[in-house]
Amino acid sequence: MTPTIGVFDSGFGGLTVLRALVERLPHAEFAFIGDTARLPYGSKSRRTIARYAVQSAQFLVQEQGAEYLVIACNTASALALDAIQEAVPVPVLGVIEPGAQAAQAASHSGDVLVIATDATVQSHAYAAACHARGLRALEKACPLLVPLVEEGWTDHPVTAEVARIYLDELNAAAAAEGLQPDTLVLGCTHYPLLRPLLERTVPPGMRVIDSAESAAEAAAGLINGRAAGVAGEPSGPAKIRCFATDSVEKFERLGSRFLGRPVGHVELIDLGG
Ligand code: DGL
Repeated sequence: MTPTIGVFDSGFGGLTVLRALVERLPHAEFAFIGDTARLPYGSKSRRTIARYAVQSAQFLVQEQGAEYLVIACNTASALALDAIQEAVPVPVLGVIEPGAQAAQAASHSGDVLVIATDATVQSHAYAAACHARGLRALEKACPLLVPLVEEGWTDHPVTAEVARIYLDELNAAAAAEGLQPDTLVLGCTHYPLLRPLLERTVPPGMRVIDSAESAAEAAAGLINGRAAGVAGEPSGPAKIRCFATDSVEKFERLGSRFLGRPVGHVELIDLGG
């Protein structure tokens, strides 16, 4: 039994989630779409993000036969999960709940920090998911980090300085509120590529949670659970089809950095305006 899993992101940052999924579901078929023509989502309104995300979700389900959808984009997960779930007849998983769950498992103090895009932070989706688990959460938008990663500056002095400023501000705000955070959630597809840099920047002992890993773990649990008992041999190794709404050359060039292996041929598609 080989499930087809649709994975959606606003760009190719979501390949970090796909990479984590492939590790856990090596026999599945994957269709990945990066809505690169309309990136970034992180600075857009809920209405626009939902419209864009629903178009991608429908493409994956209706045209690529996805039986499950993983919304790798934190911004779309935060602002459009309901709209996507209403628009398609398959199970849809976002990254926010698994990220909050991993934060709960990691934190001893019960105080966590979240860094994400502007739109994700303004939605307070992570804070709500953390509060529902008895955690106190402080969120901060770090809008400069996405373009720095897109530029390939994942281990660059400029990125290190930008990250240091953001995290110093966040830690100072946490201290002012009397929080004792021991966990940092990376609430954006692009931040896992900065993980080594961020781990060097956070105060000693602070745990760093990668929402890509947490989401892939949750998705694999659901999909493997449903597949259990279904007859058929795995037809292994994972097949990956990638689609983008803008420059496939850039996707092919930079995508391999996110996926950890060559992305292969990327097909250009048009989802409309
Ligand atoms: N994929 C987005 C996220 O995870 C980051 C890039 C964007 O702003 O579109 O929030």
